[in-house]
Amino acid sequence: WTEMFHSHKDTRPHGPSSVGLDVEFIGFKHLYGLPEHAHINLHLLSTTHDEPYRLYNLDVFEYELNNNMALYGSVPYIIAHSAKWTVGVYWNNPTETWVDVDHKKDEVIRMVMMMVVMIVMMMAHSHWLSESGIIDLFIMLGPMADELFRQYAALTGTTPLPPLFAIGYHQSRWNYMDEKDVYSVILGFDANNIPLDVLWLDIEHTDDKRYFTFDSNRFGNPKKLLDDVALTTRKMVAAVDPHFKKDTKYKQYSNARSSDLLVKDRDGNEYEGWCWPGSSAWLDFINPEARKFWSNQFLYHNYEGSTKDLYTWNDMNEPSVFNGPEISMHRDALHSAGSIEHRQVHNIYGLYVQRSTFEGHLLRSKNRTRPFVLSRSFFAGSQRYGAVWTGDNAADWSHLEVSTSMLLTLNLVGVTFSGADVGGFFRNPSAELLTRWYQAATYQPFFRAHAHLDTKRREPYLFDRYHMTIMREAIVSRYRLLPYWYLLFYQSETSGMPLMRPLWVEFPESEDTFEIYNTYMVGSSILVQPIVKSAVNVVSVYLPGCHEVIWYGDSYEIFKGCQVVDVPVTLEKIPVFYRGGSIIPIRERIRRSSSSSSSSSSSSSAALNDPYSLLIYLDNKNEADGYFYHDDFSTYKYRDGHFVYRNFVYRSNNTIVSRSLNKDSKFKSNSWIERIYIIGLGQ
Ligand SMILES: *[C@@H]1O[C@H](CO)[C@@H](O)[C@H](O)[C@H]1NC(C)=O
Ligand SMILES: *[C@@H]1O[C@H](CO)[C@@H](O)[C@H](O)[C@H]1NC(C)=O
Repeated sequence: WTEMFHSHKDTRPHGPSSVGLDVEFIGFKHLYGLPEHAHINLHLLSTTHDEPYRLYNLDVFEYELNNNMALYGSVPYIIAHSAKWTVGVYWNNPTETWVDVDHKKDEVIRMVMMMVVMIVMMMAHSHWLSESGIIDLFIMLGPMADELFRQYAALTGTTPLPPLFAIGYHQSRWNYMDEKDVYSVILGFDANNIPLDVLWLDIEHTDDKRYFTFDSNRFGNPKKLLDDVALTTRKMVAAVDPHFKKDTKYKQYSNARSSDLLVKDRDGNEYEGWCWPGSSAWLDFINPEARKFWSNQFLYHNYEGSTKDLYTWNDMNEPSVFNGPEISMHRDALHSAGSIEHRQVHNIYGLYVQRSTFEGHLLRSKNRTRPFVLSRSFFAGSQRYGAVWTGDNAADWSHLEVSTSMLLTLNLVGVTFSGADVGGFFRNPSAELLTRWYQAATYQPFFRAHAHLDTKRREPYLFDRYHMTIMREAIVSRYRLLPYWYLLFYQSETSGMPLMRPLWVEFPESEDTFEIYNTYMVGSSILVQPIVKSAVNVVSVYLPGCHEVIWYGDSYEIFKGCQVVDVPVTLEKIPVFYRGGSIIPIRERIRRSSSSSSSSSSSSSAALNDPYSLLIYLDNKNEADGYFYHDDFSTYKYRDGHFVYRNFVYRSNNTIVSRSLNKDSKFKSNSWIERIYIIGLGQ
């Protein structure tokens, strides 16, 4: 059964196999989901004249847009939506999967009142084919979108509430080269009053790509560095990839090897491939013992130089193998003592890497603090272990544009904590493109700038005053809205609701919205349309809501829903609208990070006492409704009643009612609501 793929042999010792099934969505025209693909469109296009959507986690160099080729992650899940129903089908299979999609009118013969009649119905067709495994199909019947999100969340889980710093602004680059570089970047942000929560270290911080180590020449005193950064109320994140340099003096490698926890090749020898460190071996994350081993590496005595303020980024976990077939692992490589072939688990390998890292962070804090782990590869359920990003994009307007639909799709399939590299990973963005990218990413759940080793430095403070001020304003607007984002994350943990929502999620009956991919909602209150082209003076924005919904612009001007409005645009802002009837919590004291305080004290608890404001946008009946959430921002005590969760209602007789939604709250805080803005009075 041996087959050659270019120069790579696949022995297929168990013979060829495949499983497949067709699923018809009768009465539906619009399908969504099946990430990861870089499509500008949000709804799935017919593959009749194209390759099927391919799901096979790969490290793709300079990926193409509007192509059904495989990318870094996979979620084999399709959502179908019509004005009446939202339903979903999840194909639980982590092997290579191809999905064809087609739309057709179908003639159905029905008996209606004793007469045989022909009914012409729209129907969407999907054809699923996987390389191996079993058919394990879950059908979720909604019928409303919020019910569908809950059903899928019950199956695959939700994102636990992240620590507050993780939804602030992250500054990354391949690479901040040494300790001096890190100090100077932090100084650059502080000197220019740009908020920043996390500074990232890519692979060059290690001792020759031995993860869990620091290069002693450039990062000679990592503990002091982390402590100094922590004193400025910031955290750090370092790259830790799932391959080990084959060096018997490297303890992570030699211990994994002596405990027999490494992936094997088809002959049962240690699997060997090429990656950043050169000749490498891969930990067998499919084996629970190997996952336990990995988690243990995050304990401080194993990860020397790390502290509680260092969090983790798992890159290259598709897994990426430079000299392997399609830059990945051979399908006949062996996991779990030879009992499982790689082809059977390929798409879920990366999930296990992120999970073991997440569990390692829990271990090191004795389950006290919430981990933060970023992963490039993902599968259905990865949302339980942290954030993902859309991999190696480019500094190009089209890549800014595609980030909206890629992240909306991830949000639809439960991978809510997701983002795209601000500025584009490859190549150099113009000041205009970078500015527009900051403005867009402010309204995306995971907000990180990152860049390739060969690009020019592009920290916002390096730009001329005009562009720098606008980029800072974009980051500041994120910090103003952090209480709203935090609330959405809290609600999403229990409801499975996406944070970034296609318009149809909020306006399910409005067929005008079903194919809109460039405008979306953050939660149910804020509508955003990023500017994704150069030199734009005016854009058309569709404001949904045909049943008397009203919207407020940035300067409180009022628009009726159910119309396209032409919005004049300058570089200063992108179109953002607030839905009448919303109450949005914000923080107006902008500090250098989400946890810094007005005093020079480094205690992050001081930030707990900063006051909040409420923005009340009245609807056309002079009413509004919204929620407020507050806790200690970092621990799991909220699961034990230590939080404040309230509902605010503004009534047409101009009274505000506030009601606690957790009656026996054990949380004590000196924070208060300082200001209430009522917008639209007497409209
Ligand atoms: C942390 O939580 C896990 C999972 O609930 C549990 O197995 C473990 O014993 C806990 N560890 C500590 C130190 O509490
Ligand atoms: C305002 O209206 C609510 C019911 O909508 C009522 O309970 C409340 O007493 C009213 N308040 C005043 C001051 O009239």
